[in-house]
Amino acid sequence: MEKREMVYEGKAKKVFVTDQEGIYWLEYKDDATAFNGEKKGTIGDKGIVNNRLSALFFQALAKAGIPSHFVELLNDREMIVRKLEMIPLEVVVRNIAAGSLAKRLGVDEGFQLARPVVELYYKDDSLGDPFVNESHALAMGWAEVAELQEIQEMGLSINEVLQKILDQAGIILVDFKLEFGKNEGKVLLGDEISPDTCRFWDKETQNKLDKDRFRRDLGQVEEAYEEVYRRVSSVLKA
Ligand code: TMP
Repeated sequence: MEKREMVYEGKAKKVFVTDQEGIYWLEYKDDATAFNGEKKGTIGDKGIVNNRLSALFFQALAKAGIPSHFVELLNDREMIVRKLEMIPLEVVVRNIAAGSLAKRLGVDEGFQLARPVVELYYKDDSLGDPFVNESHALAMGWAEVAELQEIQEMGLSINEVLQKILDQAGIILVDFKLEFGKNEGKVLLGDEISPDTCRFWDKETQNKLDKDRFRRDLGQVEEAYEEVYRRVSSVLKA
């Protein structure tokens, strides 16, 4: 396959077209942003961890019957994916209250939720990705009833698969964000699954092993990303 021109550059990835219709070439960057792009920096070799870790998770999800855009891992920073018509929603699944939920509901970070929570955010940087509900999504035409049901159900199934893997890696899956899109009429998981898009806490020490180390200036950011990759790959490659 041939890498052709770049069609989009996001905050964490570049997207290139290829010589094959409907197939994209992704390149993961080390650039990191937080608070809607207000805070900028780099996390050394983050692109490598996020690319390789996402590939491992997408493969494990495929085995569990959950389809994604993932086609093939190429090298440290690049993967081949199917082109999706993106649904402009971020689907957040939470097992433990942290971040914006802890703030919104006035509970401590670490509060154990009695069951997983699924939330929707409208993906629009200029608005700061506002919290929305299903009726907003329907009224605005962002998704259809069946699609909304499907992406939320997929979110909960993905939660179960990831929790199992991460538990074996000694990691608590606190929460995570997913994006979905359509390909030939089917809803597929897109984007990435990485320490940029999930909260991972060490099971023993409760240490943060994710992008909160960058957001909150906690130090040892690279080490945390590497640690997650090391542990998950030893579970999934075993
Ligand atoms: P939140 O607590 O800030 O709403 O974040 C919930 C989860 O979503 C957390 O795992 C981090 C992830 N996330 C993203 O991937 N991108 C974002 O822009 C934000 C705000 C959160």
